Amino acid sequence: MIGKASVNADMLRFQAVFVLIVALFFLCTNAIRSIPELETPIKKYASNIGVYGSDNVQYLEAPEYRNGDHCGVLGTTATAYGPFVVHVAMTLDFEYLRGSIAAVHSILKHTSCPENLYFHFIASESKTPKPDDLSRIIKTIFPSLDFRVYSFDDRVVKNLISYSVREALEDPLNYARTYLAEILDSSVTRVIYLDSDIIVVDDIQKLWSFSLGSTAIGAPVYCHANFTKYFTDRFWSDSRLSRVFDGKKPCYFNTGVMVMDLAKWRREDYRSRIERWMEIQKEERIYDLGSLPPFLLVFGGDVAAIDHRWNQHGLGGNNRVHSCRSLHPGPISLLHWSGKGKPWVRLDAGEPCPVDELWSPYDLYRHSKEQPRL
Ligand SMILES: *[C@@H]1O[C@H](CO)[C@@H](O)[C@H](O)[C@H]1NC(C)=O
Repeated sequence: MIGKASVNADMLRFQAVFVLIVALFFLCTNAIRSIPELETPIKKYASNIGVYGSDNVQYLEAPEYRNGDHCGVLGTTATAYGPFVVHVAMTLDFEYLRGSIAAVHSILKHTSCPENLYFHFIASESKTPKPDDLSRIIKTIFPSLDFRVYSFDDRVVKNLISYSVREALEDPLNYARTYLAEILDSSVTRVIYLDSDIIVVDDIQKLWSFSLGSTAIGAPVYCHANFTKYFTDRFWSDSRLSRVFDGKKPCYFNTGVMVMDLAKWRREDYRSRIERWMEIQKEERIYDLGSLPPFLLVFGGDVAAIDHRWNQHGLGGNNRVHSCRSLHPGPISLLHWSGKGKPWVRLDAGEPCPVDELWSPYDLYRHSKEQPRL
């Protein structure tokens, strides 16, 4: 009896130790598993530094492009930029960096005077990588590119964005295009604004030399789109608001590709006009989308119509992540992956849409096994 009891005691002790070991094992594996989760922000930040160190940029250097013989000689006037310069403004941030770099690459590749381009990149002061780091990255990828990275203060816009669920998710950098006339030097009197999810497959000088007439912006306009739906019933039923369109024939346009007369922007203070509509939106809901409607309110009916070939938009598909669009018939100078899906995301996921194959020749991102993917 005693022997049996002691065996049982031994068994119990053995079981207790076994349970303890198993428990410790689970604790440890759980702890190990939870480390990456806990440290995600740190890890992300740290790997950003690694990837973005100036001597460890995870992009290939772009081929160098030279001006053709017919291009004008630079630097012969009093302006800081010279007479033949084409000014292009884009935003730069972590999420869209690969798109921005492909966009710049495509522009350089298809213009006959690449050395006459000047890029104005707007980056958020409050995001990582910082504007200075982004500047180093661009310099490494495009060593001979003329450009400047401007630091954008998000707070300017944050106070103006109304706090609906949808817009709270919106990136203040989306609104940077409203401030180009202030951000860029006053010697820059015209600029082409481009979204980051585009590629240009034609000479951008053609877009640059488009005549705006008396208007402040030029863009492809879409008059068949139902303009009513961009604003709420509340807006349309309040004549004090909706009379903004009196005597005009406003049409939808996409703000991702615009030629802007910055001299006129400064003269007419369109920035304040846009901001005033944003203030009204904060008080009473006059539209549902974010940065587009204020542009429609200020410029609707007064947009110089650029050929549709300069904005084949919607290639990102609609709100369903995996919905592929095909190209509209006709000539194309610029492809635009507006919508939810981005070509680099779909290509990496191994589920590209047919149009994404048109984007990949401009991709300079360098995949490697050791480095985390961006
Ligand atoms: C345009 O949209 C509005 C609001 O959604 C709708 O009431 C109207 O019938 C539409 N008009 C046309 C021509 O489809």
